Amino acid sequence: MKKQFDFRKMSFYQIWIRSFCDGNGDGIGDLYGVCDKLEYIKKLGVDGIWFSPIYPSPNADYGYDISDYKSIHPDYGTLDQFKIVLDKAHELGLKVLLDLVINHTSDEHPWFIESCKGGKDNPYSDYYIWRDPRFKGEEKLPPNNWYSQFEGIAWEYNEQREQYYLHVFAKKQPDLNMDNPRVREEVKSIMRFWLDMGVDGFREDVINFISKNPDMPDGWSFVPAINGLPFYKDGPNLHDYLEEFRKVALEYGAVQIGEAPFTTVNTALTYIGGKDRVLDMLIQFDTMFADCFMTEYVYHGFWLRKLKRAFRKWQYGLQGKAWFALYLENHDHPRVVSRYGNLRYWRESGSMLAACYILQRGTPFLYQGQELGMTNIALNSIDKYIDVAAKNAYNSFFLWEPVEKRLKRIHVSTRDSSRTPVQWTDGPNAGFTTGKPWFYVNPNYSFVNAEMEDKDPRSILNFYRRCLALRKSSKTLLKGTYREYFPCSSKVYMYERRYADKAKGLEEGILVVCSFTTQEHSYRMPGGYNYKKGKLILDNYISEEEMKAGETAEAGKLRPYEVQVWKFRKKL
Ligand code: GLC
Ligand code: CA
Repeated sequence: MKKQFDFRKMSFYQIWIRSFCDGNGDGIGDLYGVCDKLEYIKKLGVDGIWFSPIYPSPNADYGYDISDYKSIHPDYGTLDQFKIVLDKAHELGLKVLLDLVINHTSDEHPWFIESCKGGKDNPYSDYYIWRDPRFKGEEKLPPNNWYSQFEGIAWEYNEQREQYYLHVFAKKQPDLNMDNPRVREEVKSIMRFWLDMGVDGFREDVINFISKNPDMPDGWSFVPAINGLPFYKDGPNLHDYLEEFRKVALEYGAVQIGEAPFTTVNTALTYIGGKDRVLDMLIQFDTMFADCFMTEYVYHGFWLRKLKRAFRKWQYGLQGKAWFALYLENHDHPRVVSRYGNLRYWRESGSMLAACYILQRGTPFLYQGQELGMTNIALNSIDKYIDVAAKNAYNSFFLWEPVEKRLKRIHVSTRDSSRTPVQWTDGPNAGFTTGKPWFYVNPNYSFVNAEMEDKDPRSILNFYRRCLALRKSSKTLLKGTYREYFPCSSKVYMYERRYADKAKGLEEGILVVCSFTTQEHSYRMPGGYNYKKGKLILDNYISEEEMKAGETAEAGKLRPYEVQVWKFRKKL
């Protein structure tokens, strides 16, 4: 067993490689591009990278449908190039996490191709979840009534094998049969392959779905997309399987972050609580649904109180028991400044949102382009979108509405908004490629881009850097407790981090005050706090230089989307 590195002190940057940076001019982001940008990532102040899948994949779900777990997609480079990136990242002091997608493979994976042949002596026969059809007279029916989360029903009939296979996601993503010990051995072998190479851990895709209820009962017929959820989420053997994988990870001191859609605090604690935990952190979804009901596609506009409720639930729920993964964006959600911020106050709200989550208790994750305040795109036809989930939503729900209205639903909900090329400069194709970009570049790159923001002391980019640096330099932010104030306010989100440094005989409180409104707004400090005794240490209206020169904010007043961070100290 090797000691784990201290992920609690770290922060991570997520790369969705296809749109990150193109190094060879074919219009597709790749490992050469990543190599060129490692210093940029380091300079942000993060400590590691999580790569969304970089393996060979037919891209039905852009990498989350893997056809070879032990290789690199030729679009992105080679294994040797990956090793170069890995070594350079390590030299810069950056950890590297890969995406481990084991709930399903691509239907083009050789295991699946073999499995379709069936047969008792075929070692791959039982790698996937196959069931006989149900019959209604002559008519073949799927084994149960589950819907897929991405495409129609969750079963696809295979002529060759004369059986149905289960796909919780797209048709081209057959679910693996984790109850088969051979499949679990494959998973461990994949983990070892990358860990032996020097990878530092994994983000584990939909990990709470990998064990299914073997009876596969019907779900509620009136619930679309997720009616099978109670029978494939947190299945009977999930904990045992995670324990098996945990053993491998711990041999290497690797860190494991599980993505767990629809999970609750209590369930999460069974995986990430205590010393015998089987995962280190969980990616929950509640904080992503402050403007929608259960899925971005059912949009209702942003409600601050709903966001605060989600933060409260997880911060208090895990405090003292487990560690949290903080995030506001990833490749599965639209851009946060378009959702929880305000484009009229793009710079202000984009930077406020950074402090709003990075200074909470947990390990922050940033998604590529988030640090620039990249925004959603709005394409004028569904054919221009590429995401299987967006197309499915468009073609399945709200069909009675006019096309423009349905397209608007896509604009606010699609994952494609997070998948447009990263905006590096105000030059051609936003500096993403010298060729023709594989996907639309957001036209606002003329002012939303890394090169310009790097030079602007008040930019969103520089504010992200300041937040990450502040967090890293502060024991209170790294280790302190979390407490929320004025939970009922629908304009201000306020929380405190507190830490008693016994060695120094000091207690420190850090108060983070975030405005979520376009109006100027006055606020009170909580009982026991006095502005006069506090020091303003971060503010998105004041540059770092100005702050050093002694500029401060008007206590008790917030400008539109201002964030103020105050520090208080007292002797113990
Ligand atoms: C996870 C991934 C998402 C993918 C899905 C199926 O939610 O983050 O991108 O589509 O799993 O693999
Ligand atoms: Ca390329």
